[in-house]
Amino acid sequence: MTHILAIDQGTTSSRAILFDDKMAVAHVAQKEFTQIYPQSGWVEHDVEEIWDSVVAVVKDVVAKADDIAAIGITNQRETTIIWNRETGKPIHNAIVWQDRRTAAFCEELKAEGFEAEITQRTGLLADPYFSATKVRYILQTVDGAQEMAEAGKLAFGTVDSFLIWRMTGGKGHVTDATNAARTMLYNIREGAWDATICERFGIPMSMLPQVLDCAADFGTTDMFGPELPILGVAGDQQAATIGQACFEPGMLKSTYGTGCFALLNTGDELVTSQNRLLGTIAYQLDGKPTYALEGSIFIAGAVVQWLRDGLGIIAKAQDTHPLAEKADPSVELYLVPAFTGLGAPYWDAEARGAIFGLTRNAGPAEFARAALESVGFQTRDLLEAMHADWSGAEEGTLRVDGGMSASDWAMQFLADIIGAPVDRPKVLETTALGAAWLAGMRAGVYPTQAEFAATWALERQFTPKMDSDTQARRYSGWQDAIRRTRG
Ligand code: G3P
Repeated sequence: MTHILAIDQGTTSSRAILFDDKMAVAHVAQKEFTQIYPQSGWVEHDVEEIWDSVVAVVKDVVAKADDIAAIGITNQRETTIIWNRETGKPIHNAIVWQDRRTAAFCEELKAEGFEAEITQRTGLLADPYFSATKVRYILQTVDGAQEMAEAGKLAFGTVDSFLIWRMTGGKGHVTDATNAARTMLYNIREGAWDATICERFGIPMSMLPQVLDCAADFGTTDMFGPELPILGVAGDQQAATIGQACFEPGMLKSTYGTGCFALLNTGDELVTSQNRLLGTIAYQLDGKPTYALEGSIFIAGAVVQWLRDGLGIIAKAQDTHPLAEKADPSVELYLVPAFTGLGAPYWDAEARGAIFGLTRNAGPAEFARAALESVGFQTRDLLEAMHADWSGAEEGTLRVDGGMSASDWAMQFLADIIGAPVDRPKVLETTALGAAWLAGMRAGVYPTQAEFAATWALERQFTPKMDSDTQARRYSGWQDAIRRTRG
């Protein structure tokens, strides 16, 4: 039997998942690491702690099989690492995708009209979410960094790139097209780093990694025993899109983790959103990019964490749904979880959370229901924007994955409020599966794209049951809550 190793380096934990030759999960190891909050709105990771966590989980699963054919890597996207090429040491903590410290600079970019350039070239918006302004911040604040960068002594990478660099002993400074597409430095029309944008941000292009397809030769590592090739890389949301086999234009997936990320395959067409969605690369195979429209919501599963850790009304996430079922149907609460501002399609960094419709009989059950409903409402916002942007988005179902997709209640409400079927697959490890498939396919162990798509299997479909009047009234209640939250 042959195995493929997927490394999933996420925002809160690193995981190693071993897949067998039938693409079934054989072993999983997971390690959480520290979230560093130096100031309100700032989020960092200790790069060495990320590295140690990856090494630990990989060692754990590698010990379980002596026939690993290849490694696939998937990762939290946008998170920014700059390291010294000579010493291999990072010059600053990783600045995490959630970090908002460059918001004022992004406002400057908008005021000078540079956002249109950014969107035209990268598909993105001038927002602190992406890597570019974080790179600029590190170069400007770490003593001597700008000069060292100009002298070619520093390297920049997203997490995949740093891991590969370390795993290959500094031989490979590479990334894949999906991760490059999230930096705000990569021209996704031309498939090349963008000189105009790099110049505006003062980022020397010598810092940037070489960009490869998602299934490619990223180098080899002998750190874990026998020499293993790294043959697949994709950002985690793109890996989930691949793992969900959303290979045809019009196919749509939504992953419910801390946040929620919906990606709609738009095929060869790079759709320029008129509704503040992102244009991005879904995957790139054989030199050919397939594009996607993406809607990113910052708070989805995190709202359940808030019920548990902030309000203390549940002991564990799984308690939310039974509690929500006890809610008084006559109380209609709207919870807008803008804890760190609002993502797509609003992109309002200054908005903060709010709750509307409180009455004397609103209690924990009604809060739990409003929290789960907020995820459905936010997804509907994304789908509305997708439909307005692209006619190919009209039909079809929504394929879901991620922790919250396990909640039948939340998925039924989602189907009800979007008015379309919601499909939950049998394999919920879609992100790791996407990375494993890329590597396994390249190694000749796993099937071709079409054959892989045919293996996707439905566990349960949720069909809309809510009557159209109720649906319209509830969604309009949500839109009103959003308006009032944003003042
Ligand atoms: O864009 C951020 C996203 O890639 C993070 O995903 O699953 O690590 O929270 P996750």
